[in-house]
Amino acid sequence: MKYSIIPAAGLATRFLPASKCIPKELFPVLDKPVIQYIVEESVESGATNVVFVSGSGKEAILDHFDRINPKFSVGKLKEHVREKVEELDDMIEVISVRQKSPLGLGHAVMKGTFVIPEDEPFAVMLPDMLIFSEGESSVMQEMSTLSEKYGCSVIALMKVPAETQGMYGIAEGKELENGVIEIKRLIEKPAEGETESNLAILGRYIFTPEIVSILKNVKPGRGGEIQLTDAMVELLSKERVLGFVIDEKTHVFDTGNMEGFALANAYAALRRVDGFEEKIKNLIEK
Ligand code: G1P
Repeated sequence: MKYSIIPAAGLATRFLPASKCIPKELFPVLDKPVIQYIVEESVESGATNVVFVSGSGKEAILDHFDRINPKFSVGKLKEHVREKVEELDDMIEVISVRQKSPLGLGHAVMKGTFVIPEDEPFAVMLPDMLIFSEGESSVMQEMSTLSEKYGCSVIALMKVPAETQGMYGIAEGKELENGVIEIKRLIEKPAEGETESNLAILGRYIFTPEIVSILKNVKPGRGGEIQLTDAMVELLSKERVLGFVIDEKTHVFDTGNMEGFALANAYAALRRVDGFEEKIKNLIEK
């Protein structure tokens, strides 16, 4: 898998005023923008051609992954800082596609596929969903291995409490091997009682090229938007689709809301800032 699509057109009204001028994808979790974690995850799984699907006001995302930074000269930075900045830029090919109208996730992905060769499988990674894995390989790496082994599409799933089911696409299926299910049914943001399953789509997908023609014809669904889940429902009727259920060593943060964003920063700080745990404990006691 050489390509990944990162839809990044959302306006982040939930984060106003912070999102007034800065794309939410560039908000930092400690010292790194959220979207850089996602791009690194893409590169680790082999997808070094990164397709950003965005729109007006999001140009800074492209600048972030460019060698020529409009604000400062990379050449003047100290060696160790320069390495940090340049490393990733050397590894990826940045491709930019404009969505123009906000017609839904399925529409954004469809636009992204215009620049991917016809017979190539590709990944879709939602930048709001930050995944920190304490295991040996990332979720995308595991999914890529699985997709190659079975020669089919794979989507990542996480177990969610019943009360949050309605916020996600939900998958039903039967176990194929440990942590892997063969998907039988997908429902985008189900109403209460519509499904017994607690397996939610978490924003990491690997697709076979078959999805492309489906996406071009899928009709608007929930909320009048072209839904990626609806295209996957059709894909299911044609091909096998697997679900990779993440384990307890994997932490998912939805940085698209205040709580998830704050928790992602706390998690990163607990791992990287000396004495942070102690200081937080003191703060809570006070
Ligand atoms: C999208 C997908 C949904 C998925 C979710 C993960 O929804 O449509 O299936 O569970 O991302 O974050 P959105 O959050 O864009 O409404």
